[in-house]
Amino acid sequence: MKKIALFASGNGSNFEALVVACQRGEIPAEAVLLVCDQPDAPVVARAHRLGVACFCFSPKTYASKADYEQQIVQQLDQRNVDLICLAGYMRILSSVLLTAYAGRILNIHPSLLPAFKGAHAIRDAFEYGVRVFGVTIHEVDASLDGGRIVAQHSFPYEGNDLAELERQIHALEHPLYIETVKKWLSKLK
Ligand code: GRF
Repeated sequence: MKKIALFASGNGSNFEALVVACQRGEIPAEAVLLVCDQPDAPVVARAHRLGVACFCFSPKTYASKADYEQQIVQQLDQRNVDLICLAGYMRILSSVLLTAYAGRILNIHPSLLPAFKGAHAIRDAFEYGVRVFGVTIHEVDASLDGGRIVAQHSFPYEGNDLAELERQIHALEHPLYIETVKKWLSKLK
């Protein structure tokens, strides 16, 4: 059975969708670890409820990013992780993780990349006045929301309600992430 680790910093709805898909056998993998840099984030409670082990850490307590990423790599290696799924993990990865898990890290981003990178993608696109929105899943490299695009879904929205737009985008994310992870794993030897 392939093993997935999920990295998240906040709410964790994508985390939960992927874990539940694994637990139901929809994704043929085991969700073995949550990595979280915000010990009080709601995603941690979701992990406890779903029975997923957590490695929670406070970045400030480490001398450097390399130091805490080495700890993360150790946690991942111990569990023989095949794939890392970033799901609202609000940190850029350094070469420590990128080298150790090269080609095995995916991220989900709530815009049609390369447009609207960054932490406020939905609001930025809305305020810009775009008429087609979407979600991207991409491989992770050292750049912000960069890396090869693996999957995208788009939809037109011409309304004026940011909350409704956010709801529609989040509703797209979960099935797209599940589908993409399934395809990704099926290509792994
Ligand atoms: C999602 O919109 C995802 O695309 C972005 O961060 C958000 C995380 O949401 N990277 P949630 O924590 O999974 O609910």
